[in-house]
Amino acid sequence: MKQIKLQLNHSKSAELLERSKKVLAGGVSSEFRKFNHPHALFYDHSEGVYTYDVDGNKYLDFTLSQGPMIVGHSHPHVLKRVHEYSEKGQLFAGQHILEIELAEKLNKHIPSAELMRFCLDGSTAIQTALRVARAKTGKNKFIRFEGHYHGWLDNVSWGLTLDLERMGTKENPNSLPWTDGIANEIDNEFIILPWNDLELVKKTMLEYHNVIAAIITEPIMCNSGCILPEEGFLQGLRDLCTTYNSALIFDEVITGFRTGLGGAQKYYDVTPDLSIFAKALASGYPISAIVGKKEWMHLIAEGKVIHAGTMNSACALIAAALGTIEVLEEEGTHERIFALGHRLMDGLRRVAEETGQNLLVQGLGPMLHTGFANVKSVKDFRETTAYEQPKSKMFIYGMQQRGIRIIGRGLWYISAVHEEKHIDHAIKIAKETLLELN
Ligand SMILES: Cc1ncc(COP(=O)(O)O)c(C=O)c1O
Repeated sequence: MKQIKLQLNHSKSAELLERSKKVLAGGVSSEFRKFNHPHALFYDHSEGVYTYDVDGNKYLDFTLSQGPMIVGHSHPHVLKRVHEYSEKGQLFAGQHILEIELAEKLNKHIPSAELMRFCLDGSTAIQTALRVARAKTGKNKFIRFEGHYHGWLDNVSWGLTLDLERMGTKENPNSLPWTDGIANEIDNEFIILPWNDLELVKKTMLEYHNVIAAIITEPIMCNSGCILPEEGFLQGLRDLCTTYNSALIFDEVITGFRTGLGGAQKYYDVTPDLSIFAKALASGYPISAIVGKKEWMHLIAEGKVIHAGTMNSACALIAAALGTIEVLEEEGTHERIFALGHRLMDGLRRVAEETGQNLLVQGLGPMLHTGFANVKSVKDFRETTAYEQPKSKMFIYGMQQRGIRIIGRGLWYISAVHEEKHIDHAIKIAKETLLELN
């Protein structure tokens, strides 16, 4: 396969990485930051739709920092909110008024958000939801799906290894751990299934409903490709959970505030019992929310389920979240994000055809995925084996060499501050990159 020519200078990043490796494990603070080409890069600053690395290279950003920067980098309104409120205090070991205002906003926008708690990240909020589900139902296991990412903690670090030889059959999948060091027998906590196959979930619920406290799903599978739910799949999960007294948990860490202010639950009109919001909630400030119906969340209200955290609801985080939502509430914002996303998907498909490349573009608009595959669509994790990984990576690298940054697994996010000219530029660069791959 053709290699992409090195055009950018990354020498300062390379030097910093060597220095960093001496004190930070692997030179990074999150595993995913290792994966770049030619190596992990160091960034200097970001503004609007652009990010600048330490070597002075400028990138048009479609990573949105793995999703959070939905109103762009350094949005003046968000920064103003944070600065003003931080001057009043940072953390009180007690309540403050803006927390209520933020909760009232989520309550207004998100169908299932009758009661909520704020946490620091998606991973811990997920664990809170599982705890509530177990406490309310008196059952122990949860059903989860292959290729869905629910954070990096022990009981969810499974099902992310794409290895058809070891994964078992669709009907009888094996749970494959994602990391060493997981507590023994924690795989007793869940049953793993392929996604988008309602019949399989029905069959499993019929057999195991006595022990199933919850079904947890990303409403759109954004961690392996960008795969939309099959017609009726989410509603089917809803019905099964209602029938068998299990919690339906939507992990909206990616879909939240991206598919609209009400998340995927509003977009698809399927209301879960519990859901988790994080990433796009607060423009890069660490805050997440576990939200749910009163009949579930009252267990936290009454202290039967403990949820805590020293840093929860720190002033800057709440102010950043309010600032971000206020920007997103501006009339027409999501319509514009969707329209830009469709323009990008159409344009990428057009240049793929013009260059004779098998680039497969899938998604909803606000988020979309590109990879090279000789199939019409990819519908679950196992089908992502269709992607030619080395070529997909070379495309992403080629885009980055030309100043366009996409998430390393081929995911693109659109922000409220992208404009048509940015989209058209990305399409033009995609064509150049596809030609180089020819
Ligand atoms: C769908 C989903 N759930 C949960 C998480 C974990 O969130 P965090 O990284 O904030 O712990 C992620 C992170 O990428 C995610 O994409």
